[in-house]
Amino acid sequence: MTMPNPRSHTPGEIAQKFTAHFGTKPEIYRAPGRVNLIGEHTDYNDGFVLPAAVDLSCWVGVVPRGDRKLVIYAENYSEEVEVDLDALTAWVKRPSAAYPVGVAWALEQAGHRLRGCDLYIAGDVPMGSGLSSSASIEVATALALLEVAGIQLDRTQVALLCQRAENDFVGARCGIMDQFISCHGKAEHALLLDCRSLHARAIPLPADAALVVCNTMVKHNLAANEYNNRRAECEEGVRLLKTAFPAIVALRDVTSAQLEQHRQLLPGKIYQRCHHVVTENERVLHAATAFEKGDLFTIARLMADSHNSLRDDYEVSCRELDLMVEIAGSQKGVLGARMTGGGFGGCTVNLVEHAAVEPFVAAVGREYQKRTGLKPDIYSLEAAEGAEAVVPVPGGLR
Ligand code: GLA
Repeated sequence: MTMPNPRSHTPGEIAQKFTAHFGTKPEIYRAPGRVNLIGEHTDYNDGFVLPAAVDLSCWVGVVPRGDRKLVIYAENYSEEVEVDLDALTAWVKRPSAAYPVGVAWALEQAGHRLRGCDLYIAGDVPMGSGLSSSASIEVATALALLEVAGIQLDRTQVALLCQRAENDFVGARCGIMDQFISCHGKAEHALLLDCRSLHARAIPLPADAALVVCNTMVKHNLAANEYNNRRAECEEGVRLLKTAFPAIVALRDVTSAQLEQHRQLLPGKIYQRCHHVVTENERVLHAATAFEKGDLFTIARLMADSHNSLRDDYEVSCRELDLMVEIAGSQKGVLGARMTGGGFGGCTVNLVEHAAVEPFVAAVGREYQKRTGLKPDIYSLEAAEGAEAVVPVPGGLR
């Protein structure tokens, strides 16, 4: 049996906090953050990713109201926000509630008539750390809003509408990976997701390795602009490559051989971006097979290649992420290390032999702090189930 994550809220705590704030007894929903093992910046190129949902979640307590208002208490900001479901576009955005209000907007835009409700939102996923706190908020809120309105929606539709909230309401042009894995995660597994067909295959994680996350403590919240720029560069690459291959729709359709053959069509930076995406897609497919075969040696090599490609070709790493990966690589029992998520700070993901986890945490923490002056947060995560309704146990227990 896996132990509950000590960093996680319990359903009982959320119920108590909700009642203390709103005076009523809520239904509770949970949606996880994620760690991506490999396949970075491939999702919005119709490519492949290999994320796992983790045992850190966003929790949403909800009680319906008699009107069309959303009253949202965002615990991480200690802020309450009120918004009318009939005036969502006129709402002056506040960071504390942009994601939940965006989800309400996307659901209503898709023709789902919601009910007003009180919402208490508490996130365990560290914000701006590359573990997808935003998708966890979106998905947990979507489940709560849909349930209160009595609307049944397929999980993949939920993920797509949450992505729409982030793209068109919040303004970050993210792909589908984070919302999809938050909806569909499977305990002890990663999902090999084809971001074009949205077909996913569960890939068992090695039983002899722990997923260890190292937070550089460098926030990536200035990265939104760069993220959108990378997307635009990929689109430019597709536009230019179409002159040689009219049938391509996305970088997913381009092979390494084709890219090399027509390299002269692309300015240097655009070539680099395309080179990362095309080779990363290949790495994801190799990695999925390597996980299935238990070929840890190949996984380590692919994770290292992925990190280097993100650093050199895609230019979304930073000094602290590179250092964290370098320090991890010199520890015993490490089976793979790379940056995870959008980049420019946030976390690395490491596969570490169970017996080596404690010394790894101590040594990496010490060395990183010595070299940067920053005290990193380092901890093991379990691959967890996707979003769900949870039942609080009286007394605040699980
Ligand atoms: C962020 C986005 C995802 C994905 C990753 C990079 O997490 O939300 O859609 O593009 O960056 O792989």
